[in-house]
Amino acid sequence: MERSFVMVKPDGVQRGLVGEVISRFENRGLKLVGAKFMTVPRELAEQHYESLKDRPFFPGLITFITSGPVMAMVWEGPIAIASIRKTMGATNPANAEPGTIRADLAIDVANNIVHGSDGPETAAREIGLWFGDLGASYDRANDQWIFPTK
Ligand code: RTP
Ligand code: MG
Repeated sequence: MERSFVMVKPDGVQRGLVGEVISRFENRGLKLVGAKFMTVPRELAEQHYESLKDRPFFPGLITFITSGPVMAMVWEGPIAIASIRKTMGATNPANAEPGTIRADLAIDVANNIVHGSDGPETAAREIGLWFGDLGASYDRANDQWIFPTK
């Protein structure tokens, strides 16, 4: 089992798309193991996007992420990180495949609705940063139908 940090960004919250994003991950069979609706402190935003701090869009990105509440979540499943990235689609919605969240719901590279961890180390770091120690998972009655070998 793998865990990934996912965030519905301020544009997704403002546009009333939190439920839509959650539904897409739920419908795939991923399991919600943590959630927090919150306005992001500037320091947390800067830590979260630390690897992008030298990019020209970094100041605008921090302004955007701190501009309104976000839905921060942790989702669990087999190959959760790659599955979530596929379901999100490419960073720029113009390059995202139809059927992905970004292609279906967004049109701008900055306001692209959703964040998902891009690898196992990033996921561990982001979950720690946003949630601390989340603890154990839980069983669902239909887990055996969704991931029978896990
Ligand atoms: P994310 O971290 O949000 O899941 O997105 P990502 O991995 O697909 O893309 P990343 O390179 O990590 O960029 C983080 C976020 O910065 C914004 N961005 N703006 N104006 C621009 O050219 C630009 N490029 C990236 C996007 O909100 C992107 O998701
Ligand atoms: Mg990223």
